[in-house]
Amino acid sequence: MRYTQNDSTERWNCNADAWHRNFGGEDPNRRDLLDPIIFETLGDIGGKRILDAGCGDGYLSRKLAKRGAVVTAVECSHRMLALALAEEQPDPLSVTYHNGDIASLPFLADRSFDAVVTNNVIQDAADFEGAFREFSRLLQPGGIYLHIVNHPCFSTPVFGWVKDGEGKKLYRKVDRYFERGPFLVPWSPKSGMEPTIAFHRTLGDTVNSLISCGFRLLQLVEPEPPESWSILYPERLDGARIPDFLVLVCKKEKTYV
Ligand SMILES: C[S@@+](CC[C@H](N)C(=O)[O-])C[C@H]1O[C@@H](n2cnc3c(N)ncnc32)[C@H](O)[C@@H]1O
Repeated sequence: MRYTQNDSTERWNCNADAWHRNFGGEDPNRRDLLDPIIFETLGDIGGKRILDAGCGDGYLSRKLAKRGAVVTAVECSHRMLALALAEEQPDPLSVTYHNGDIASLPFLADRSFDAVVTNNVIQDAADFEGAFREFSRLLQPGGIYLHIVNHPCFSTPVFGWVKDGEGKKLYRKVDRYFERGPFLVPWSPKSGMEPTIAFHRTLGDTVNSLISCGFRLLQLVEPEPPESWSILYPERLDGARIPDFLVLVCKKEKTYV
């Protein structure tokens, strides 16, 4: 089956409440791996105009706003957006939310942002090149695009842990790396989430598209588990032998034309 952006969005509508329950608060991957990189990279964000593209339930938008950023957030799933709005009601932070596809943002003005973040979004978006073109248009020269994604080298159309008879992880299986396009991503049964749809592209596809959209790659990070996990979450360390995430810090040098 050839899945589309609409199929991906529909899956996120169905999964929104389970996502919010599992990852809307203190998730260790967020708290220990990704949030520190986001805030270190963006530095002092007081007064900075930041676009949280694919904001989900607004987890990152709220954190950015609490640190003084002027946050605009875009999300294609209406259910995710409803959760974001509900979270803000008791504690208004002036985040501006839009329902839309990050590959087409005509309601946002050219050069109107200092930074754009996609926090685990692009793998779920059908038109990654369209999104990069929009981010290039929306950023002021020198602005930062922070691209955080499921690592494309280890999350491919065929992937998963090969286990022994007792369930011990032996090694990570990765196949069909060059098979671009949509595939189903299973989630752990205890999350209560139905499979989502990811759109695979290679690391080269992503980096070359960023370059052709006018970005310069400043840094590539593969977040490693902190020491504290050996005491706090020893069960996570086994799975953390392979990076789940890839972070690309990009600077806009010229606008895509
Ligand atoms: C894994 S969730 C991450 C949500 C959020 N960034 C976070 O950190 O909690 C991916 C989100 O990207 C959204 N998304 C996927 N494709 C999109 C698109 N083309 N435009 C806008 N949002 C999109 C999904 O609806 C979903 O809410």
